[in-house]
Amino acid sequence: MAIERVISGMRPTGNLHLGHYNGVLKNWIRLQHEHECLFFVADWHALTTHYDTPEIIEESVWEMVIDWLAAGVDPANATIFIQSRVPEHAELHTLLSMITPLSWLERVPTYKDQQEKLASKDLSTYGFLGYPLLQSADILIYKATQVPVGEDQIPHIEFTREIARRFNHIYGKEKGFEEKAEAAIKKLGSKRSALYEEMRTAYQQSGDEEALETARAMIEEQQGMSMGDKERLLGYLEGGGKMILLEPEYKLTPASKMPGLDGHKMSKSYNNTISLREDVDTVAKKIKTMPTDPARVRRTDPGDPAKCPVWQLHEIYSDKSTQAWVQAGCKGATIGCIECKTPVIEAVLAELKPIQERAAQYAEDPTLVKNIVAEGCEKARKLARETMRDVRDVMGLNYS
Ligand code: TRP
Ligand code: SF4
Repeated sequence: MAIERVISGMRPTGNLHLGHYNGVLKNWIRLQHEHECLFFVADWHALTTHYDTPEIIEESVWEMVIDWLAAGVDPANATIFIQSRVPEHAELHTLLSMITPLSWLERVPTYKDQQEKLASKDLSTYGFLGYPLLQSADILIYKATQVPVGEDQIPHIEFTREIARRFNHIYGKEKGFEEKAEAAIKKLGSKRSALYEEMRTAYQQSGDEEALETARAMIEEQQGMSMGDKERLLGYLEGGGKMILLEPEYKLTPASKMPGLDGHKMSKSYNNTISLREDVDTVAKKIKTMPTDPARVRRTDPGDPAKCPVWQLHEIYSDKSTQAWVQAGCKGATIGCIECKTPVIEAVLAELKPIQERAAQYAEDPTLVKNIVAEGCEKARKLARETMRDVRDVMGLNYS
């Protein structure tokens, strides 16, 4: 099995809510136990759309990290950092911009979509057009293999793959590449080098994808071989030059089924959220005032859970017997809506309780949070510097 490196970022534009928790965060928390994970605060990306409200970003950065930690993102299992604290992202972004055709950026669907959606903002900026390229730099600088994203982000990952391919195509032909690759093959040992040759031929002559995968896995597992040699061998497999940047795969995060207070998807823009640090009384009040099936004007009027947003919350938070109680009680008008909402309020509060307790601990100890992030930035920077050394090298920027 190839080693996966997972990277994902989130823009700091406000409080996290139950939709983030049930969609993105639970997924991150699972992934951190399965793979090497890097999670970062995409503060520059937030600036592309919120350049005129820097105070929101500044405040949200730390609050968001606290929300992550409180939800269970574990600094012992994942590297947590802030994009702008690893300025190499910006350097790679600039260097990649040299080879990025304008037309590729203009046809990324989010470019026009977001401009239309956020029509009140002037998004005809250089920074906003470059949003996907900055994202590519975020990913490529770590040679990440997997990027967990929502559906809307898939075009950004595909764009990233195209940029990596273009970069490798233009700069992947280092001097004496073939000789260096041949020398690296010898370092595999006689049995493995024979296997490598065999699989390389199988892939190049008959497009045998399985041989390609097997050979890749073998190289990645090879002990005691330098990164440079591994990349040469990976590049040579496919007939090209050295693979300097790695094409990542996207991993679609299952869409959050979390409904908001009005039955639509929970989202800040719909104003239907319960935030992770919402206090107990507000949570209760928000649920108590949720709309229900309009047919239930009086308590004696029967209703239909299928027409009620509260039912959607029961589907997530209630067990089968409570759900049966709701169905019968609503249709038979034997329970009132406030009664029906009680178990939902209790379940939401129970979910939030441990999160809020942890959040309070972190909020009380800003030094701890800052240290976690400082350590994450240091780790991330080390990886980023390695890639930049190679990138500068092939772009003719290593003056010594
Ligand atoms: N564009 C992403 C979003 O809006 C955030 C992001 C920035 C990101 N850089 C990234 C996600 C790199 C994954 C990988 O959700
Ligand atoms: Fe909705 Fe429950 Fe009232 Fe039925 S009883 S309308 S499911 S809140």
